[in-house]
Amino acid sequence: MSDPLDLLRVPGVARLQEGEAKKVRYPHGGDTLEILLCRVDGRLYALDTLCPHEGGRLSEGPLSQGRYATCPLHLYRFEPTNGASVGIECAPAKVYRVDEKDGCALVWIEEAV
Ligand code: FES
Repeated sequence: MSDPLDLLRVPGVARLQEGEAKKVRYPHGGDTLEILLCRVDGRLYALDTLCPHEGGRLSEGPLSQGRYATCPLHLYRFEPTNGASVGIECAPAKVYRVDEKDGCALVWIEEAV
């Protein structure tokens, strides 16, 4: 059995438009997690901003082609729905389970999907 999950509640995500991404920071285990909330095809997705390539940080703002998170270091792109790299071989970005309820994002921190 794994540790209990931490639930991060982020208000105001109803304002996140299609094809946009917003960073949120969350204290966790003496460190700070940085999570990128992305809206793609009307749904909300959550990626860890740590780029699996060489440790850059995924950018907020408009998603590439309206749907891909981008790392500014070498411009690798990642699919918010599952973290997969797009058009290049790279490990996937970490994806968190996220639900949207009453205008808030509910992000399960310990659970990567
Ligand atoms: S460190 Fe992110 S693309 Fe290279």
